[in-house]
Amino acid sequence: MDDSRILELGVRIGRNTAKVNDYLATNNLPQPSFDVDGPSQFPIPHDESEISAARQAVLHDCLELRALMLGPREYLTSFQHNELVGQQVITRFKLAEAVPIGGEVTFTELAAISGLHEVHLRKILRLAIAQHIFCEPRPGVVAHSAVSRLIAENKVLADWLRYSTDDLWHAAYHMGDAMARYPGSEEPGETGFALSNKTNKDMFRFFAEKPERSLRFAAAMRFFTQRPGLEPERVIDGYPWDKIGIDGLGTVVDVGGSHGRVSIELARRFSSLNFVVQDLDEQVIRDAERQRPGELADRVSYMVHDFFTEQPIKGADVYFFRAILHNWSDTYATKILRALIPALKRGAKIVLNEPVVPEPDKVLPENALRIRANDLVMLELFNGGDREMADFERLFARAHSGFRFQGGSRVPGSNLWILEAEWMGE
Ligand SMILES: C[S@@+](CC[C@H](N)C(=O)[O-])C[C@H]1O[C@@H](n2cnc3c(N)ncnc32)[C@H](O)[C@@H]1O
Repeated sequence: MDDSRILELGVRIGRNTAKVNDYLATNNLPQPSFDVDGPSQFPIPHDESEISAARQAVLHDCLELRALMLGPREYLTSFQHNELVGQQVITRFKLAEAVPIGGEVTFTELAAISGLHEVHLRKILRLAIAQHIFCEPRPGVVAHSAVSRLIAENKVLADWLRYSTDDLWHAAYHMGDAMARYPGSEEPGETGFALSNKTNKDMFRFFAEKPERSLRFAAAMRFFTQRPGLEPERVIDGYPWDKIGIDGLGTVVDVGGSHGRVSIELARRFSSLNFVVQDLDEQVIRDAERQRPGELADRVSYMVHDFFTEQPIKGADVYFFRAILHNWSDTYATKILRALIPALKRGAKIVLNEPVVPEPDKVLPENALRIRANDLVMLELFNGGDREMADFERLFARAHSGFRFQGGSRVPGSNLWILEAEWMGE
């Protein structure tokens, strides 16, 4: 009995579930439920680290217990290729918005509202219902669950699901073709994404010519920056911004900064810093300028700039890159760093806010799927990928011997790190 793994997992799941349950009861928090009025996310605060760890352990152990209970043969065939079809159809045809919250519609009515064929709609929704998305209180009648209600009420999340099912899923599907056609490629136009869109452009240049897709991507990124640990505010505590420049007066260039959400948060907090937000996408830059809070107009400016070309803002104190370098292979990340050199004054800082992958023997089993999956997305989209610390060191050394890479640390409560390199001169 002692060496039974399934029993060990079962006991641990029971123990940790009891811990979480006690916490919910003691703090008068709602029980998790898929009922339409159930909580839209698991009701424990992000910073409750002990209870969060117990919850994570339950999630991880359940996966392992399930896999063991299935056995290799059933486990392998339990991966459903069409698991995302429900989310794709629901978000594309705005089905969640068409069902009244707390009310009901028949499949026939929903087919009429959406213009979809009733039989097809029913098949897709019944798969979704099996995944807790919507429920069927009586045969032929559809109502919201807490999950479908979230899609109806949270536009940013719905935008993310649409991007994930329409863009990421297609790119992943074409990954094998890309590997066969372009073995070992570092080119951003030779990817699963490129094949799925019949282009040889990188995803950003492709989107820049397609305003609707570009806005959808920007909307999806908004969800990304709202995820626990990835909020722009996290960057505030992760770096000594108050020490920048002379007498605290400094300039930060937010390279590839999109709408400049991080710069806006930093500008609010540090009144002596000026920010220039740069992005390739003109539409994003104009949109961001329109949305810029009026009180920051004199300290946050926007400009269109391609970071593969020479950096036009000379002598800034910090060149900040958030979630940029992991998009690009080493060949292209090197180009991005080299394009800064003509603008750099001695002592200028290159600050990265990026994931850092632990070395293989340090990846905790409960984090492995997330870490490896995130890395793979970068490969599918750009032939890029998340890096280990030693990879960053090699990258700066390859770009120029004048960069002194100083490492960094993980931002508390975040999956992203702040890394720094200093320009020592040619
Ligand atoms: C993953 S997003 C990160 C955005 C932002 N730094 C953040 O954290 O919210 C990558 C950004 O790089 C921009 N980008 C891609 N290629 C670029 C290029 N060649 N020059 C400048 N910006 C580029 C994209 O438009 C996009 O806004």
